Amino acid sequence: MRQAPRSIVVLTGAGISAESGVPVFRGPDGLWHGRRVEDVATHEALERDLWGVNAFFNELRRFVADIKPNPAHEALVKLEQAYGNAFLLVTQNVDPLHDRAGSKHPLHMHGELQSILCEQCGQRTPFFGDVLPQTACPACGRTECLRPDIVLFNEMPYAMDQIIDALMACDLFIAVGTSGFVYPAAGFVDIATHAGAHTIEINLAETERSPAFAEKRTGPAGQTLPALVAELIKAKEHDGDPRT
Ligand code: OAD
Repeated sequence: MRQAPRSIVVLTGAGISAESGVPVFRGPDGLWHGRRVEDVATHEALERDLWGVNAFFNELRRFVADIKPNPAHEALVKLEQAYGNAFLLVTQNVDPLHDRAGSKHPLHMHGELQSILCEQCGQRTPFFGDVLPQTACPACGRTECLRPDIVLFNEMPYAMDQIIDALMACDLFIAVGTSGFVYPAAGFVDIATHAGAHTIEINLAETERSPAFAEKRTGPAGQTLPALVAELIKAKEHDGDPRT
């Protein structure tokens, strides 16, 4: 990387947390914690069995209580510190590893495990325990109306306006550890390319969207991402502050 970018958008997917022991969604057996994600994260599932869905996500919430970020998450903290407002981190992940690593403003476009959503008042509230039928919404006090704060299939992801604006303004887009199956995130590379940005994909393998990227770095995110971040920080130090 010879010239420092003016504005960077990074999109992360389940692959960035794999080295922390979090299973990816579309692994070799196609299962996610023993279930197909398409069977759990849908409106039909929620309407059919709200407490079954809550029980599944309660278990995941317990699972993420103790997991630790890895060098890939940590590299993105350094990138944020170096580039400040010229950097946006968008994650599809519902685990808290970017936050735990120290990223200040990760946009969790698919929601967060450690948050609940009230179907009555629409309030999102940080939450770390089990959601049970008798659990009252901290905002409106009603019971039997809390669901995981996870964007289900066919729901609009969070913060889309902010993300699209950043993609249209960036000159570097990096996608890390995402299979490119799920839209709209899988289409971000097209928006960035259209805006004239350089695009880099980091993954263990070829993905659905690999052909759309200008550059590909193959290997575990815990190694490839820190190396790329070191290049970007070096380029910025060499150029001075590209934001001025
Ligand atoms: P996937 O499970 O679909 O894809 C994970 C990707 O990470 C694959 O392309 C792997 O090759 C890659 N990968 C695995 N380990 C890696 C490593 N150590 N380093 C680099 N890459 C690695 O996960 P996502 O693309 O994130 O939605 O899935 C997108 C969405 O599908 C998720 O956000 C989820 C699910 O429906 C919701 O939860 C709403």
